[in-house]
Amino acid sequence: MERAAGDPSDLLQQAAGLFAGERDPWANSANAAALVYELLPGLNWAGFYFLRGGELVVGPFQGRAACVRIALGSGVCGTAAGSHETVIVADVHAFPGHIACDAASNSEIVVPLRSGGKLIGVLDLDSPEYGRFGPADAALLEALADQLVAACDWRLAGIDGF
Ligand code: SME
Repeated sequence: MERAAGDPSDLLQQAAGLFAGERDPWANSANAAALVYELLPGLNWAGFYFLRGGELVVGPFQGRAACVRIALGSGVCGTAAGSHETVIVADVHAFPGHIACDAASNSEIVVPLRSGGKLIGVLDLDSPEYGRFGPADAALLEALADQLVAACDWRLAGIDGF
């Protein structure tokens, strides 16, 4: 079903309001996933994988049930996690090793979450549209990732190295 999208420019402001006074990683990342899914048009999945026990484990998300564990270096998420760089994929079917969780997904962006040079996890967005994500999305989502990293006490989430 088509979702009514909000205004993406509201994302950081609304996130700041939700994170204010709250340090819990699960609470804040759940609200972040919900905001992204509500405000950015053309998504079929938005959520987190966190570095736990040496691999990426799915965290709070919106969309269809997803693959639970992804090895570092595997798929788009594992590639972004391994390089600590945002990865934009215009056509996931052309990406070697792409992990298909929902057959409806055709493009993807994955933004790493880092603190003090250490990886916390990744923020992953999927779209049924080819070429859905560009530099403006990367900039917005990297700003959200920074905001979320700063807002949480990651020792509460069992993230490797915290
Ligand atoms: N497509 C991702 C896997 C996660 S799902 O898209 C939710 C990947 O290749 O890493």
